[in-house]
Amino acid sequence: EKGTYVHYMQKEIYEQGRSLTDTLRGRLDFEHGRVVLDSLNLSAAQVQALERVTIVACGTSYYAGLLGKHYIERLARLPVEVDYASEFRYREPVIGPGHLALAITQSGETVDTLAALEEAQAQGAFTAAIVNVVGSQAARLCDGVIYMQAGPEIGVASTKAFTASAVDLLLLAIYLGQARGLLSASAVMTLLEELSRLPGLAGELLEAAWQGSYYRELAGRFAHYQHFLYLGRGLNYPIAREGALKLKEISYIHAEGYPAGEMKHGPIALIDHQMPTMVIAPRDRVYDKMISQVEQVKARGGTVLAVAEAGDPILAEKADFLLPVPPSHELLAPILAVLPLQLFAYEVAVHRGVDVDKPRNLAKSVTVE
Ligand code: F6R
Repeated sequence: EKGTYVHYMQKEIYEQGRSLTDTLRGRLDFEHGRVVLDSLNLSAAQVQALERVTIVACGTSYYAGLLGKHYIERLARLPVEVDYASEFRYREPVIGPGHLALAITQSGETVDTLAALEEAQAQGAFTAAIVNVVGSQAARLCDGVIYMQAGPEIGVASTKAFTASAVDLLLLAIYLGQARGLLSASAVMTLLEELSRLPGLAGELLEAAWQGSYYRELAGRFAHYQHFLYLGRGLNYPIAREGALKLKEISYIHAEGYPAGEMKHGPIALIDHQMPTMVIAPRDRVYDKMISQVEQVKARGGTVLAVAEAGDPILAEKADFLLPVPPSHELLAPILAVLPLQLFAYEVAVHRGVDVDKPRNLAKSVTVE
């Protein structure tokens, strides 16, 4: 089943051009200028009555949720809270009718996420899940569902389910924004077109990585470090968190994902030549601020790796190593930016001799507390 690949995780990383095509299949209606999310079961009238969205999830799915908050707030102007399912279920959460409780779960079987959904349902919220496994508990429990259509994910570390969830969250944000009368027909059409280009851009990046040996070489240089800092801002802050999680769970290197603006409030004290910093810095509205973070790290003797747009002359000069991504729409850039971080984590783990499909202490589906 792994074909030419050594690990499922490797296969699942490299097949994202195709899995993203599958995720988008049947969702983009160019003829009517809308997205199709039939099994969400949420009518335009119900959307108009919504007051807020609460996203519950764990791990990688939680980080997808952090990105979803940006999408939904920006395009649908609904307040969004993102909570760890394990925290939500043991609070006294403020939730009820008029709220959308949205779970994100690859397996659809994560016990904390299911319990959070049950709590939200008991309080009268409309419940929905972005889920990969058809017929899973989450899919059965919820009032509505968006299937990731990513195909089975076998590697313990989640990769293609993250990019599928991110795409589904953007589709949902467009759906909500349109139903709330906030998006012009041309704004929707632009987003549909940009989305339809995404699988091709992802495929291009991955193909270049597959043909070359760049990530293996980078891994050789960085596999012996014990600590990493990952920094991102705005839409790319969740990507910093997800990139750090990927590294720690399969390579056992300690990595922290931080919002870049928080650096000076503490983590900057850690910077020295023994702790490399990975910055995620596509040319978006906070790009200039990311450049100044790079300068701060360099001024303290740190090494900088930068996920940057291919050919970015400023980062080519200021950072020590570039992990290139093709230029894309601001809302899609985070989805492309995670790919180099998956590749980096994978190659570092392989270099360190870890069985990446079965990292110690981890299970694919966390069905116990
Ligand atoms: C990380 C990873 C986990 C899962 C988490 C939630 O690579 O795989 O953090 O994302 O256990 O799992 P699901 O999405 O199945 O609810």
